[in-house]
Amino acid sequence: TSLFILNGPNLNLLGTREPEIYGTTTLAEIDAACAAKARELGLSADFRQSNHEGVLVDWMHQAHKAKARAIIINAAAYTHTSIALLDAAKAITPPVIEVHLSDPHTREEFRHQSHIGQAAVACFKGKGLASYLEAIEAAAAL
Ligand code: DQA
Repeated sequence: TSLFILNGPNLNLLGTREPEIYGTTTLAEIDAACAAKARELGLSADFRQSNHEGVLVDWMHQAHKAKARAIIINAAAYTHTSIALLDAAKAITPPVIEVHLSDPHTREEFRHQSHIGQAAVACFKGKGLASYLEAIEAAAAL
């Protein structure tokens, strides 16, 4: 697997979760579109979601052991709270690319800070599914 695409808490509810913010595209649809984009670029993608911070940390370590080309991560609310995800990003070799469906900077103040973003090589946000597709293109260009 060349890309790990990791998704954090509540993203399993996409489709019905606050559609006025996140749209109606489901996580399964994002997974399918990412798989197609990766294939088109000659990459493979392992697409996962967890509501648990430690599981996301474990998956980052796994991507490191697997010598993944890059980790694309929508850490969801853990973006704004998790030093553990930041430390994991700093501890591993694969570059980390941050993605968000919405643009956290145009939302509540508490979403303005991204911990993992401090260790990310790029961030794609505010474009829904396209944020993920642009991140895959950036990973292919690394
Ligand atoms: C999000 C933005 C976060 O602030 C929020 O907690 C999410 C989703 C996004 O993709 O827009 O759960 O990461």
